[in-house]
Amino acid sequence: MNEGFRIGLYLPPQASTIARRIDVLHYTVIGAAFLVAFLAFFMIGIFLIRYRERPGHEAPHGHIPVRAEITLAVFTLLVFLVWWGIGFTQFRDIRTTPPGAIRVHVVAKQWMWQFVYPNGMNSEDELRIPVGQPVEVLLTSRDVIHSFFVPAFRVKQDVLPGRVTSLWFTAVNAGTYDIFCAEFCGTGHSRMRGRVIAMRPDDYARWISGQRTTPLATVGERLSASFGCLRCHTIDGTPHLGPSWLGLYGSKIPLSNGQFVVADDAYLTESMMDPAVKLHAGYPALMPSYLGQLSGPEAGAIVEFIRSLRRHP
Ligand code: CUA
Repeated sequence: MNEGFRIGLYLPPQASTIARRIDVLHYTVIGAAFLVAFLAFFMIGIFLIRYRERPGHEAPHGHIPVRAEITLAVFTLLVFLVWWGIGFTQFRDIRTTPPGAIRVHVVAKQWMWQFVYPNGMNSEDELRIPVGQPVEVLLTSRDVIHSFFVPAFRVKQDVLPGRVTSLWFTAVNAGTYDIFCAEFCGTGHSRMRGRVIAMRPDDYARWISGQRTTPLATVGERLSASFGCLRCHTIDGTPHLGPSWLGLYGSKIPLSNGQFVVADDAYLTESMMDPAVKLHAGYPALMPSYLGQLSGPEAGAIVEFIRSLRRHP
């Protein structure tokens, strides 16, 4: 039945772990709309015939009992709540990256997709992933707003300049799937296409080990030295002009405005590009903006370096 609906609605294959659940919600919405429409037209038909005006029959002026109306209202509300509940659990699952996901940094620009793997490898318009393992993509843009869309995985996320957004998916079948840009980004928008190549885990392992590259965290370490980050940030836990990077990633940071923020990819990148927006409490606003100086992959590499500085070895 699932397959029948999918073909009937011209949907692409369900190639990720969440695709089928998304589709079931989609079928439910369409099915409910059809059912309600059918019932409404059916009732109109009955009323048109049964209560039509004709000699000897006065137009009735009855009223549905109040109890029936309340029952109907409560029922509708319950259906809506169930629907919302299912949608909410799906949304939560889509937004929560499972632990142990492979992290791939993605930089969008007019009009291509650039992928940077944890081992430092680069590719353009082609993302290779292993089947059965969650992959998190950390998205940023070099110019305008784009949107990373993989229809077969049923995932889509806006890609913003100077910000990091993320998305995760687990491929269930080996194969090649389209990546589209789903946000109009200029004259080449329709040509801004890429592909995800989902490989069997052993093929993927062989492929990735065959690439000779420098791990992204090592690249980040070199970059943070050459850009002068390490003049203000230590990596051994000692506070200096800026907070130490040791144990920074993933920690809860008190801000100068009294709020708290988790030091994730998005926050760390924002702090490089726009340091004054969310200032760490207790530190002076000394840091210059690196907007326009650090490219997306460079910022990503520095984040990977900060991420590698965990408190527990
Ligand atoms: Cu990038 Cu449309």
